[in-house]
Amino acid sequence: MKKNKTLGEFIIEKQAEFKYSSGELSKLINAIRLAAKVVNHEVNKAGLVDIIGASGDTNIQGEDQQKLDVMANEKFIQTLSNREIVCGIASEEEDDFITINSHDQNHQNKYVVLIDPLDGSSNIDVNVSVGTIFSIYRRITPIGTPVTMADFLQPGRNQVAAGYVVYGTSTMLVYTTGHGVNGFTLNPAIGTFYLSHPNMQFPENGNIYSVNEGNYIHFPQGVKDYIKYCQAEEDNRPYTSRYIGSLVSDFHRNMIKGGIYLYPKSSKSQNGKLRLLYECNPMAFIAEQANGKASDGFGRILDIQPDELHQRTPFFCGSTKMVDKLEEFMVKSH
Ligand code: AHG
Ligand code: MN
Ligand code: MN
Ligand code: MN
Repeated sequence: MKKNKTLGEFIIEKQAEFKYSSGELSKLINAIRLAAKVVNHEVNKAGLVDIIGASGDTNIQGEDQQKLDVMANEKFIQTLSNREIVCGIASEEEDDFITINSHDQNHQNKYVVLIDPLDGSSNIDVNVSVGTIFSIYRRITPIGTPVTMADFLQPGRNQVAAGYVVYGTSTMLVYTTGHGVNGFTLNPAIGTFYLSHPNMQFPENGNIYSVNEGNYIHFPQGVKDYIKYCQAEEDNRPYTSRYIGSLVSDFHRNMIKGGIYLYPKSSKSQNGKLRLLYECNPMAFIAEQANGKASDGFGRILDIQPDELHQRTPFFCGSTKMVDKLEEFMVKSH
């Protein structure tokens, strides 16, 4: 594969290769590429202009919204609504889904998008990497009718595409359309993403575990046992602990180096913290496409039938052998 290919060129090439019927998915990925550049520009200025800190509002999850949460949400929604591809958007920062329909076309768009516009908001103020996560489905209700909740509440295995942007030491866009995972790095001087990480794969096994260990006391026994296993002096253990607190960044590191990310339920939050539809499902789809695995501790994330937009789930994701081991401990202690 030619190394200096741009994301624009890649999208065109894939459209031909996979015969996406009308090029709409390509247009959609292009819109996300554009929104990612806009948000990247804003995130990069964060220390210079007054966009750090709380916005003063709270979202439906009861979290204080940061100014950048609100800004990223607006930029993604604007960019996606201005193109005639998407019929509905759901976002972490919106209570309900948004219906999109330009007045001259009668609900003809076929894709719904679910987004976490800014992931890792607690890291904004301290100049640590944040991200964006997106998930794309084909609507299941008929074209020509307004989009409904059922179009959003599909199991993750129905995803057509998913990806994330990491605003890190460099900005990268990583995505899959169900044919492997590819990563593109932004050259900020010219505003172009280049294919830098073709065919990304989780190593089958790894030695990094990522968990907010401050909550240890509240974790289920299976997770406590697995953490002790990670810390035991045996074979290639103890493992290394790495936790950034931005799912996107923790996932990205583990995919490149080999590792497991854990966000269990706790005695404080019965379903954990992460949101199934716009955090766990897209990451799970990417993980599976990259030879990794994603589980709620007992079963496949992508097989969960959602029943609400902002539903949460325990989440264990990463190198297959590590997630298998975690599941063993969960079952044993159950
Ligand atoms: P968001 O900033 O989109 O609300 O997501 C925060 C999530 C995720 O990025 C991260 O891995 C996790 O919350 C961190 O939670 P803790 O602070 O509880 O460890
Ligand atoms: Mn949030
Ligand atoms: Mn998030
Ligand atoms: Mn968020």
